[in-house]
Formats: sequence, structure tokens, C-alpha cells
Amino acid sequence: MIYFDSAATTFQKPVAVPNAVLRAMQTCASVGRGGHAAAMAAAETVYNCRLMASDLFDAEPEQVVFTMNATHALNAAIFSVLSPGARVVVSGFEHNAVTRPLHALHADVRTAGEKLFDEEDTLRAFARAIAEQPDAVVCTHVSNVFGYILPVEKIAAMCRERKIPFILDASQSAGTLPISLRQTGASFIAMPGHKGLYGPQGTGILLCADAGRPLMYGGTGSNSEDQAMPAFLPDRMEAGTHNVCGIAGLIEGMRFVRKQTAEAIFRHERELLAYAKRELSEQKNVRLFTGEGQAGVLSFRVEGEDCEEVAQALAQEGIAVRAGLHCAPLAHGSAGTADTGTVRLSFSAFNTPHEVRRFALLCKKLFPA
Ligand code: ALA
Repeated sequence: MIYFDSAATTFQKPVAVPNAVLRAMQTCASVGRGGHAAAMAAAETVYNCRLMASDLFDAEPEQVVFTMNATHALNAAIFSVLSPGARVVVSGFEHNAVTRPLHALHADVRTAGEKLFDEEDTLRAFARAIAEQPDAVVCTHVSNVFGYILPVEKIAAMCRERKIPFILDASQSAGTLPISLRQTGASFIAMPGHKGLYGPQGTGILLCADAGRPLMYGGTGSNSEDQAMPAFLPDRMEAGTHNVCGIAGLIEGMRFVRKQTAEAIFRHERELLAYAKRELSEQKNVRLFTGEGQAGVLSFRVEGEDCEEVAQALAQEGIAVRAGLHCAPLAHGSAGTADTGTVRLSFSAFNTPHEVRRFALLCKKLFPA
């Protein structure tokens, strides 16, 4: 199989990842639930992962909270910062993991910046919206549909200036773009462990500037006599047994990113993107969605073909892509593709130019102009 669906999850992982999961299953019990060797092994594993993430994302170890995915992390962040009916500014490229919690909160949502690959327009729109002093700003770093890299450092700076809480969705950027909790001054940064960090599914991280409002209440192995959740991080936001095996795998995924470097992985994905663009642009019946400031994600449409059927035809030939709305109807609305969506290629460190070439040749054969 040629796997071009890494924006959903990186299916190909460094071999050390499954090995670490298995080892943890054989050696680790539950964190903070005992002083015996298996509990201590679990505690050490989870702490090592916290240390590694704090180092990668410029945060303190206790500011690293483990979640089950980025959606879980975003929910914890959004419900920490916002009350029902709050006024929120979001970009035009948010995922349902942001817009559905806001809908559930009956938030008054203002969308800023709907033009694809237009940083100036995005910044002007955010400046206007932020001037109205909303209760919070939530913004994706990279569109999961189009790969548009939003100017989040500048948006974060506008929020800092006006003391507006800023939540960053780093679902498509963690592991490829620089992310700093300290420098952005974000209240929360949410990310999956299983995409650009190459960890197992069922892992996610929420970087917390301060202790938020817990999404779940329960045992933490600390302050057990008290019925209120602990006030301190990470315990306040981590009720119940940790996904120790997943976290063990995530350590190895992050070790891989650290060794390769995020910059080199980003460069590699951009080279594949440029190659795919060159190859597909030769096909006159293909419309590409591209621009400056694009990560390793490429959406396209084939004239006269249904996107889901294009993806299905590719799947039958052993090529994995994702078609449709990609759980991001807002992004498709902004780009004018909400009718049938797009077909999306998304790359990882494991893809090669040869795979892109095979894909392009197959497209020419399956969908002749
Ligand atoms: N949000 C993920 C995607 O874009 C699942 O496919």
C-alpha cells in the first residue's frame, strides 16, 4: 500500500514504537497507584514522555497533560476557557473538534480569515475580530484539508497584547513546525500523539499554561482524601488510569522526530508536495488547491468525477487517500468546496518520491483528461 493519509493518522511508525508498546504491556502497571516495581516503571515511562514533550514544545513537564487524542485535548481546553454563550473568534479553517464543542456551548462564534493561503487577509481579519475583545481565540496551525499554514505566532501576539486567551490546535503541525507554549503565550496547545509525533492512536497532548477546568473527575493517585480534583497540574486534568502503553510508544515516536528533526521532516514533506503538484498539474482535468505557506497536505479535484469515487478507485489500486469533508465543513465552506469536498493527499516522513510518481501515473491512467 502507498499511504497518503497521514493527516488522519501516521500509519507507518518507527519500529521502536510498537516494540515500546509491547514492552510497556509486559512491564508497566498504573502510575501513582503503588510503590511496587511495575507501578514505578509506569511512573517513570509517563514522566519520561512528559519530559520529552516539555523539551520539544518549550513547556514545563507538569504543563504536559496526556489525553486520548487532539479532540479530547481541544475539548478540555475549550471547556476550561469558555462558558456558555461566550464570544469566540476562530479561523475559517477549523475542524469539527473545535466547532462542535463551541456549538455545544452555544458560543457566539465569529469566523476570521476565509481566504486560502492569504496570510495578509487572515491577519487583517483576525486584527478586526480581536479588536472587539472576544472571550477567546481558537485557531488551527495548519488546515487539515488544505495544508494552509496560518500565521499563528502573529495571531498569538495580538491575543497577548489584549490579554485574550488563545487556544492553538496543533493537530497538523506538531512534529513538523516549531511550537512553543512559552513563546506563544497560549493558554492551551492541543495535539495528537498519533500523527506527526508518530505515537500510537489513543494518545494526545494538551499543553496547559495554567490548570484548567477538568473534563473528567476521578482518581489521580494524589490528594485522595479530598473530593475536589487536585488544583495542580498535571493531576487536575488527568483523571483515571493513563494509557501507559500508548505513552511508551509516544516516547519512541517523539525520539524519532527529535532525531530526524522537525525541520527535516517538514522539508521532506514539502519536497513531496512540490513533486506531486508538478506531476498533477500536467493533468488538465485536475484542479489543485495550492499556495504559499503550505505544509505537506494537498487537496485536489478531478473534473467530472466524484471525490469519494476517486478515493475509492485509488484505494482499489492500493493507494490510501481521504476524500470528502475531512471533518472540516468550515474549511470546505471557506474554500468553496463544501458541496462534495476534495480528495486529499497527506505525507509523512516515510513517503518517497517514487510513491508520488506511481500515484501520478495511476491518476493519469484512471482519470484521463
Ligand atoms: N482530522 C483528521 C483528518 O484530517 C482525522 O483526517
